[in-house]
Amino acid sequence: MSRDQIIHTPEEVVRIRRAAAVTAEVRDQIAAQARPGMTTFDLDQVAGELIRATGGKSAFLGYRGYPGNICISVNDEVVHGIGRPDRILLDTDLVSIDVGVEIDGAIGDTARTFGFRELTADLKRLVNGTQEALMAGIRQAKRGNHVRDISLAVETVAKKHRLGVVREYVGHGCGIRMHEPPEVPNFVGFGQGALLSPGMVLCIEPMLNLGTHKVTTDSHDHWTVRTRDGECAAHFEHMVLITENEPEILTWPKTT
Ligand code: MF3
Ligand code: CO
Ligand code: CO
Repeated sequence: MSRDQIIHTPEEVVRIRRAAAVTAEVRDQIAAQARPGMTTFDLDQVAGELIRATGGKSAFLGYRGYPGNICISVNDEVVHGIGRPDRILLDTDLVSIDVGVEIDGAIGDTARTFGFRELTADLKRLVNGTQEALMAGIRQAKRGNHVRDISLAVETVAKKHRLGVVREYVGHGCGIRMHEPPEVPNFVGFGQGALLSPGMVLCIEPMLNLGTHKVTTDSHDHWTVRTRDGECAAHFEHMVLITENEPEILTWPKTT
């Protein structure tokens, strides 16, 4: 695992902060416009319009050949689901959206999981547990800590709620390119990882499963990642700036 890290200049941080805020707003607009009866392709088109309206462009479209504006992952789909005209959203579906916007040479990347009606007890445990794990990770994103402190906090909350931690995909540095060093795993491995310093921007993004941690990639589209056991998954992602003091969550929902 890379121990490199990118420290952004104050001028870059200004642009990254704006890209992240724009992306967060688009994320919540997409979720607000999602309805049962729409197809996931419809939702991707809505997302494309909302992204264009910001003056930015999708950071995902064309990335390593990715064909969608955003990622839409339903139920047992963990991440990287592609909008499809033959997949109609049901009111019982659990929907994860992951949104990336590039604007003024900076990038925002954020994800959330939602349903359309009251969730079952297990789905509440999954969704609330994943959000709790993300917030516990963010709390460790302070100068002087290491990436391992974030990973440990996320993994500890996941275990507490008996959720499987996806290992193949991890959080990452972000800001000027979508994926920058360091990697930010949601589990603890060897070593303490990069030292956290002011000016670093991290995407912390637990991908947690109701069942086991095991996942598989769709053999036809080569993108969609699903749980092996068919159980549901959740994904929440925030961009966080390491500061001299407390972490600054750059993709927090707009409150006005
Ligand atoms: N947004 C994802 C992440 O959180 C990456 C999406 S890859 C893409 O790292 F190809 F779909 F863009
Ligand atoms: Co993302
Ligand atoms: Co990310």
